[in-house]
Amino acid sequence: MKRLTALLALSLALGVQAQHTMTVDVAKPTAKIQPTMYGVFFEDINFGADGGLYAELVKNRSFEFPQPFVGWVPFGQVTVEDEKPCFDRNPHYIRIVNDGRLLRAGIDNEGYRGIGLKQGEEYRFSVYARTPDATPVKLSVELVNSNAENPVKKEIEIKGQEWQKVAVVLKSSFTDAHSRLRIVVQSKGTVDLDHISLFPVNTWKQRENGLRADLVQALYDLNPGVFRFPGGCIIEGNSLATRYQWKNSVGPVENRPLNENRWNYTFKHKAFPDYFQSLGLGFYEYFLLSEDIGAEPLPVVSCGLSCQYESNEIVSLDQLDPYVQDALDLIEFANGDVNTTWGKVRADMGHPAPFNLKMIAVGNEQWGEVYPERLEVFTKAIRAKYPDIKVVGSSGPSAGGEQFDYLWPEMKRIGVDLVDEHYYMAPDWFLTNAARYDSYDRKGPKVFAGEYAAHDHASGKANNLYAALSEAAFMTGLERNADVVHLATYAPLFAHVDAWQWNPDLIWFDNLRMMRTPNYYVQQMYGMNTGTDVLKLQMDGKPVTGQDSLYATAAWDEPTGEIIVKLVNVASHPAEVKIDFTGLKKRQLVSGTCTYLHDGDLKTVNTLEQETLVPRVRPVQVKGQTLELQLPEHFFGVYRLQLN
Ligand code: AHR
Repeated sequence: MKRLTALLALSLALGVQAQHTMTVDVAKPTAKIQPTMYGVFFEDINFGADGGLYAELVKNRSFEFPQPFVGWVPFGQVTVEDEKPCFDRNPHYIRIVNDGRLLRAGIDNEGYRGIGLKQGEEYRFSVYARTPDATPVKLSVELVNSNAENPVKKEIEIKGQEWQKVAVVLKSSFTDAHSRLRIVVQSKGTVDLDHISLFPVNTWKQRENGLRADLVQALYDLNPGVFRFPGGCIIEGNSLATRYQWKNSVGPVENRPLNENRWNYTFKHKAFPDYFQSLGLGFYEYFLLSEDIGAEPLPVVSCGLSCQYESNEIVSLDQLDPYVQDALDLIEFANGDVNTTWGKVRADMGHPAPFNLKMIAVGNEQWGEVYPERLEVFTKAIRAKYPDIKVVGSSGPSAGGEQFDYLWPEMKRIGVDLVDEHYYMAPDWFLTNAARYDSYDRKGPKVFAGEYAAHDHASGKANNLYAALSEAAFMTGLERNADVVHLATYAPLFAHVDAWQWNPDLIWFDNLRMMRTPNYYVQQMYGMNTGTDVLKLQMDGKPVTGQDSLYATAAWDEPTGEIIVKLVNVASHPAEVKIDFTGLKKRQLVSGTCTYLHDGDLKTVNTLEQETLVPRVRPVQVKGQTLELQLPEHFFGVYRLQLN
């Protein structure tokens, strides 16, 4: 063995490349690959929803933050009121009085680390307003740039003692990531204002309560099979009172009550006291988004345990009914007939057709006996009412260890359909775990790799090529074991460059731009090239799980009749690979393409200014039933091969 290693080292030093022969048996696929296999997991962390995907530009638009002027600079006489409110679940509003002496009263919003405005783009301002003493009042609505100039303004008139919605569209004359919105009372009088909102007109699909078009496009481009939402830890809450309650997130957007965001004080060295959830991006919008991006929705509900790292509050079993009912009602909201209570809510919001929900997850990273005790109650109730809905349980916060070893048998006992596994580990772990699922029980629940990402601590957990390649290598093992692994989602998804709590993340953005990481492109290369059936790929009679730093998997794609081979070379030297395809009978390879990610430096990252690492495509020379390849160092390639 020692001699072999020495020989390999010597040949590399002499520039002689290691040669490897792999075989792919095309005749006998070994497993079906689920269309849901590669997906996305969304959580409102790192300003992923408010300040991110949710395109609202005004922070604290309803004045419901515990300190009601957070995000605002009031000037002149401005007070917070709640008498005869416009919205009963968001009762605060502001009263601005301009007594004519100062002729200068109003309020100014800072957005989420600024408001991003683009020259030539239109923005829809709206407000609920009334004039309590019936004297009409003139307001100027202004877009203010970071030099404190207000070149864009429009005047609106408020009249009447009843609340009414007033809207106006402004076209920005400048591009600025750190603009502000200002409202100035221009005439003598008193005005009440609530739910002050500013959205780009050009949201995804031009929806008024819409999402940032560039960020949704990035999700769409992943071709995701599943969409897990809304968390993560936020479904648990720092306390039970602040858990995610989906019923608060549907119905008129103005009346969805504010919730604390669990990520505000989670990391003591990186606190975000102004991080709350408006729930403007709520369960209706999540289901709609799943539909838009072609992914199966996978909502997660609280199982009656708050975050066990934080407060660890537990709902006793005899008090669990409302929680279970929430899960059942959620299924009705997604799939119920328009005549059902919750199906009607969905229809009234604009979607009479069902969302065709097929799965629901109960709990996130729960552990201990308290979890299976509760999960079992949920599972029985869901199975009794909705036998076709698949239930997803959890194996806790880690990839192994005491809790994991306790929970997996419990999941089997309860009989959940899928078990959610989470691993935030070093790249080396991903490389050495490419065979993790080769020996998993084929008769138990299926695996949902629900949260994973390679954390390269040496680089400050950067989204670099090394992390991305280690994920690509690990994912060959997910694909090879597609009979047991049915879903996989990287985490977290989004991060605002000025307001993140957790890294690495798949997509970074500021108020104007977004950046796809190399990890994103790995996900995309898998998502765009999933295939339908696993093919047996071997080298020296074994799966390729890291021999000489090579990783590989192969699939058949039924709709196109193509063979898809994914190859990863993590080594810092090239490799010669020959692949013999067997079982083709008289068929020959006629052409092929290779989509690849490669760079000489494993530390390379993408930035908002420049995406250095993007997939490139080139043709591949094929010969009969063989493929001969020179794999560069630090390389991930997806080969699509056509047959005659
Ligand atoms: O993805 C970030 C967090 O990591 C999730 O909220 C949680 O499930 C995990 O601990």
